Amino acid sequence: MANVLFIKANDRPSEQAVSVQMYDAFLDSYKSNHAGDTVTELDLYTEILPFYGNTAMTAMFKGAQGMELTADEQEAADRVNQYVNQFLEADKVVITVPLWNYAAPAPLINYVAYIAQAGKTFRYTANGPEGLAKGKKVVLLSARGGVYSEGPMADFEAAVRPLKGAFGLFGADVQELVIEGHNQFRDRSADILREGLDNVKAVAADF
Ligand SMILES: Cc1cc2nc3c(=O)[nH]c(=O)nc-3n(C[C@H](O)[C@H](O)[C@H](O)COP(=O)(O)O)c2cc1C
Repeated sequence: MANVLFIKANDRPSEQAVSVQMYDAFLDSYKSNHAGDTVTELDLYTEILPFYGNTAMTAMFKGAQGMELTADEQEAADRVNQYVNQFLEADKVVITVPLWNYAAPAPLINYVAYIAQAGKTFRYTANGPEGLAKGKKVVLLSARGGVYSEGPMADFEAAVRPLKGAFGLFGADVQELVIEGHNQFRDRSADILREGLDNVKAVAADF
């Protein structure tokens, strides 16, 4: 039985937010097709992680060197390790990522800083970084109002692209499901959403 982590990075109401609809559709379809699996939900807008900064960085560095930590550093290290371990213990990870202002929501970028830990999710080698989370399946559920998969805006997409890079660097097998263009092409919006959500449900059933 698999351990599955669902990460939500969008606090908008589902009737307004397409990526939340993707998250809900994936979760429902996944649960009805994988009844015995353990599903954990991490909502990054209700479970607030302090910005990853010097205290956490120093704590992780000192911890790796076997040095003594201050109380604040120990607290920061415990928090980092909690999220790293949660990620590492998941066989599959589902992440919802809306494109807002060309990028991923800040709490998700912050979360990636937590789990990008040398010696835990990747390691440095003479040939460059090597992933330590091999075999893990990650699916990125992204919605974007315009078209970024091709054409003039493709270079501006800074949500899925860096996440694919990061989770790929951790060694995960990363898949992306995208619904795009529903704001740009108002006349086709309903069809784009229906086809996209049907695809999300189908992929979730076999994930
Ligand atoms: C604050 C905000 C910023 C947005 N920025 C962009 C953008 O840069 N490019 C784009 O194509 N759509 C943009 N959109 C539209 C979203 O990409 C669209 O609503 C999509 O469905 C993902 O967001 P949602 O899941 O919250 O709906 C933006 C929407 C919001 C609310």
